[in-house]
Parts: sequence; C-alpha cells; structure tokens
Amino acid sequence: MSTTAPPIDHLARDRGSLPSGVSMPTGVVVAGWGCALPALRVTNDDLARSLDTSDAWIAERTGIRERRVSGAGESTGPLAVAASRAALDRAGLAATDVDVVAVATSTPERLIPATAAIVAAELGITAGAFDLNAACAGFVYGLTTAAALIGQGLARTALVVGADTLTRFTDPDDRGTAVLFGDAAGALVLAGSGSSASAHPGPPEPAAPGLVACDLVGDPGGIDLLVVPAGGSALPASADTVAAREHYLQMDGREVFRRAVRAVAISVDRTLARGRCTADDVTWFVPHQANARIVDAVLPRIGVPPERTVSNVERFGNTSAASIPLALAEEADSGRLGDGDLVLACGFGAGLTVGTVLWRWGTPG
Ligand code: ACO
Repeated sequence: MSTTAPPIDHLARDRGSLPSGVSMPTGVVVAGWGCALPALRVTNDDLARSLDTSDAWIAERTGIRERRVSGAGESTGPLAVAASRAALDRAGLAATDVDVVAVATSTPERLIPATAAIVAAELGITAGAFDLNAACAGFVYGLTTAAALIGQGLARTALVVGADTLTRFTDPDDRGTAVLFGDAAGALVLAGSGSSASAHPGPPEPAAPGLVACDLVGDPGGIDLLVVPAGGSALPASADTVAAREHYLQMDGREVFRRAVRAVAISVDRTLARGRCTADDVTWFVPHQANARIVDAVLPRIGVPPERTVSNVERFGNTSAASIPLALAEEADSGRLGDGDLVLACGFGAGLTVGTVLWRWGTPG
C-alpha cells in the first residue's frame, strides 16, 4: 500500500462558506432505534489459534477483545433488516409510515440492487430506498442526509441504517486486518418533531431536537490507504483476482491511524464551532469504534473526557458504518442517553472520508 500520501493540511483550512449551525423548518426526533449482531462471538484467543497474533497484542494495539462474525443468514441485508425491524417496533411505526430508507454500507448484500431496496422489500416499505457508501463514516452521512430531507419537509419519517460485514472482505491470513473487524447493523427511525430547530443552538438558547451542526470532509491524500482492489468496475472479479486475493481489504494501518487522529480532531473542532458549542456542552462523544488508541489520541485534542465518551470496541471491534448506530442504540437502551443530551458523533474511514454531527437527542412526546 502507498505510504507516500500527500500531507493533510488542507483539512484545517477554513471552510467558512457554510453557515454556523443548521437552520431547518422543523426539528428531528429519534422515534426508534435498534441493532442486530451475529450470534458467533470470536475472541482474540480464538483468532490466535489460526493467526500469528495474541490477545495481548490485539488488546494493547486496538482495545479489541472480541467481535461478532456473521454466519449463514447473517449477511449485511439480514442484519440491516433485523436492526430496522427493531427500530420500527420501538417507534411503534408501520412500514407504510416510512417515507425514505437510507442504508450506509460498504459491504452491500449484493452490488445490485441496493441493500436499502432489499430492506424495504423485506419489511414491506414502498418508499424510496437508497444506499450510500462513505465507508466507516457512512452512518453520519446518512443521518445528515435524512435530517436534511425531514428538515426541508421532503420526508416526514426516515429509516437510517448503518450495516457492514467486513469480516467477509478481510483476508483471514492477514493478521494486520483480520483482527480488527466485526459485523453488525444499527438503525434509527427519524421523524419531524413539529418544533422549530434553532439557528443558534448553543446553550443557553432553547434546544430543539435534531441536527445542530455538521462537518462532512475528505482527505483525498488517503485514497489508497484502505482499498478492496477487485470486484468493482475497475477490476471485475475473476479467477485471477480471487487467486491474487484482491477481493480482500488492503490497508496501511499506521498511516490511516495517523491521518484519522488529525482529521477527527479538526472535524470535531469545526463542528463544535459551527454549533456555537464547546466540548463542555457535549453530553456524549460517540466516535467511530475503529481502535481505542485512536480515540485515546483524539480526546486530549478535542477536550472531551473519557467518562463522556462511548466505547464498545472492546466487545465488537470495528463494525464500520454500524459502529455509531450500534453505540447509540446501546446507550439509549441503557437509559444513559436521554432527551436533551448533546451527542457529538464522528465517523472516519476509507477515502479517507470523515463526517461529524452535533445532534440534540430527543424522542417523541
Ligand atoms: N498480531 C501481532 N503482530 C501484528 C499484528 C497482529 N494482529 N498485526 C501487525 N503486527 C505486527 C506487524 O507485522 C509489525 O511487525 P514488524 O515490526 O515485525 O514488521 C508490528 O506488528 C507493527 O505493525 P504496525 O502496523 O506498525 O502496528 P500498529 O501499532 O500501527 O498497529 C493497527 C496496527 C492496529 C492496524 C493500527 O495501525 C491501526 O489501528 N490503524 C488504524 C486502522 C483503522 O482504524 N482502520 C479502519 C478505518 S475505518 C474503515 O474505513 C474500514
């Protein structure tokens, strides 16, 4: 993999053409949430039986102790369907209530049709359905898109899913990637709140639920750092690509690590500034769960303490686009995440693609 990617200074440039905060005709509530996990739990010791690795190495370098690995009937589509069904049940909504379905994934059920169309068909949803691929940042992009559709009155209810099964695309013989990933799906049902979202959302002004501010940014110098070379239009799958193991993920982990720390810190700072908030206003920081050491390196840079940072990487590994909705669903189920909380969520992944949202959590009623 390339280790000569250009510098990342452009990330820090003032992208001030965007307005501060977000002004929308209506706020957005989270009507329901859900997640789905494969049954099979694979520990570091399990991996060490077939790979030259150890529990100590993986835990120290990544914070991961175990992950869920999909088996028969647990590919991206079924996991996305299960998470969506749980979210709709919790919302008390029917398939006919959904106006749009967005599935963030880079490991779709099939290349065609979209996994979102499969979810819709499976659940009896006749609304428009689309996939989006922003790698591990995908859920943040889906959340932003859905909130904008609702905020502008183009949809009343949106089902937003993050679902990935990266264990199916990692080389089981590559210890540099095989230990990192797990499979999962998470879903939120968003709905217009009827109340008006504030253009100046920072405290002490009244807090409407929904999107407070966001930053969607790229680091194109990292384009070659995380790649599945074959299976797309550039290099369609063939016996040769399979023999060359080019349908597996290839990664320059050290450079991804370095760039991710910097990009997350910059994007978070910019999002807080746009929302006219500070790190002290944040109730929960929900970073993409790729590596505990990346989060440890980011926290002092952004000023959020560990006790207000959500972490589940120890139990699930890197579940890509599912990691943020999975964390949100667990926090909401536990009661730790409640109405009025200010959530700062940041995803980063292949591309490199980064997305940060500041979101005022609110539920209906
Ligand atoms: N077990 C034991 N040794 C290992 C393992 C392993 N699983 N993996 C690598 N090593 C070895 C390497 O071979 C190397 O050995 P050498 O010194 O003899 O050559 C040594 O450990 C150090 O390797 P590095 O790659 O430099 O290790 P590093 O400390 O950077 O940790 C890691 C590797 C964990 C991958 C880290 O770089 C990382 O987490 N990077 C970020 C990756 C990431 O977050 N990716 C997801 C982005 S999201 C998305 O879009 C999918």
